[in-house]
Amino acid sequence: MDPQTFYIKTYGCQMNELDSAIMSSLLEQRGMEKSDEENADLIIFNTCSVRDLAERKVFGKLGILGRKKKSSIIGVAGCIAMHKKEAILQKFPHVDFVLGTNNIADLPQILDEVLEHKKQAIRIEDRYDQRIDHLTPTWTAPIKAFVSIIRGCNKFCTYCIVPFTRGREISRPPHLILEECKILADKGCKEITLLGQNVNSYGKDLDNMSFSDLLSDLDKIEGIQRIRFLTSHPVDISKDLMYAVRDLPSVCEFIHFPIQSGSNHILKKMNRRYTAEEYMEKIALFREIVPGVSFGTDIIVGFPGETEEDFLQTCQLFHAANFSLAYIFAYSPRKGTAASLMKDDVPFLEKKRRLEQLLTLYKNNLEARSVELIGKRVEVLVERENKDHQLLKGKTRGYQKVIFPGQETLIGSLCQVQLEEYKHQTFLGKIIPKDE
Ligand code: SAH
Ligand code: SF4
Ligand code: F3S
Repeated sequence: MDPQTFYIKTYGCQMNELDSAIMSSLLEQRGMEKSDEENADLIIFNTCSVRDLAERKVFGKLGILGRKKKSSIIGVAGCIAMHKKEAILQKFPHVDFVLGTNNIADLPQILDEVLEHKKQAIRIEDRYDQRIDHLTPTWTAPIKAFVSIIRGCNKFCTYCIVPFTRGREISRPPHLILEECKILADKGCKEITLLGQNVNSYGKDLDNMSFSDLLSDLDKIEGIQRIRFLTSHPVDISKDLMYAVRDLPSVCEFIHFPIQSGSNHILKKMNRRYTAEEYMEKIALFREIVPGVSFGTDIIVGFPGETEEDFLQTCQLFHAANFSLAYIFAYSPRKGTAASLMKDDVPFLEKKRRLEQLLTLYKNNLEARSVELIGKRVEVLVERENKDHQLLKGKTRGYQKVIFPGQETLIGSLCQVQLEEYKHQTFLGKIIPKDE
């Protein structure tokens, strides 16, 4: 019998979340309905390979499902599909199909193939298929949506698997991005987040189109009140982009551009193509051009050859940059990358210690930064109610979480909120009536 219900479990980054939404839309167009893992006729794991733990989680899950001998159809999509290919089908005989990141538009066909031939199927192509992003996903709560603008990565940082799982950079044609954003705006979407493994490389493969040109075109769309973008590579942060953030009203003053390490010797081994000083100069220039701008970062501790001195340089830079958001990871060797050939010489417990030390520094910095904001008025885009329907939840332009009492009818609107307290990385506030 044809499957009636589906469940997609998403691991990894926002690009995977977007791909899962595109796959959901394709299945809904087929008349299928969303369900939970227990009851779904089709289960898809949209996977991530970025660190070993992310891979092991999925393999553990697939092993358990195999032992349960469920009657559901099981598919593996995402970056593990690209990385491990046929090996997944061999290792897990109960997996029915493997679908690469460039092939998600083929989901209906591969499903038919499995149903018709009753044997394992695989579709993996290295080339990005522009059809994927023609399939505007149907977001259930369209206040916020992700829009892919560039896929792939050409940077080849030595630790990173992404260039191998997502292929080379390809910018999506600007008219298609504009069309999708207009559709979203018509549906009531207020905030779009432009996605790319290297979002600010946008346009390098197009004629006469840069990332800031695209931002300027998108800023003109009526109804879109906020534009965000992820993730930026420090090398591609240009002065033009800084001016775009300053001058375009909908572009939020929060930039996620990972430093990865504060040591030049490690940055070089990582092939990051900038020095700690160059990074800090960009931060300083950004702050000069856009007062109040805030920054997010990713950091890897315990990269091969990282000494205590290198780590302390990371801590110093981290403190000086005063990030408002940070994701800190312990280095995890990935097969096939250049760094996997280097000796993984920082012991596990030492990686853990450095991670915890940096996390403590982060929490303390954040606390100090945040307390300074108490008493200030901020603009919050209200996203939803909290679990017990007592409070509204939303974010500032700087990506800080705010909760405050208010009517459900405010969901989807911009409110002025006075910040009163800061707890568990969230602000508590009170709404300021429009006429005050
Ligand atoms: N394209 C983005 C990041 C993609 S991966 C960028 O360049 O900024 C997200 C984060 O995972 C990276 O920024 C890095 O901090 C981390 N990461 C990637 N590979 C890793 C590895 N092998 N071990 C530990 N962390 C890793
Ligand atoms: Fe990975 Fe580096 Fe590309 Fe980011 S820029 S996806 S860290 S290779
Ligand atoms: Fe993971 Fe692939 Fe994203 S490896 S972080 S899901 S691009």
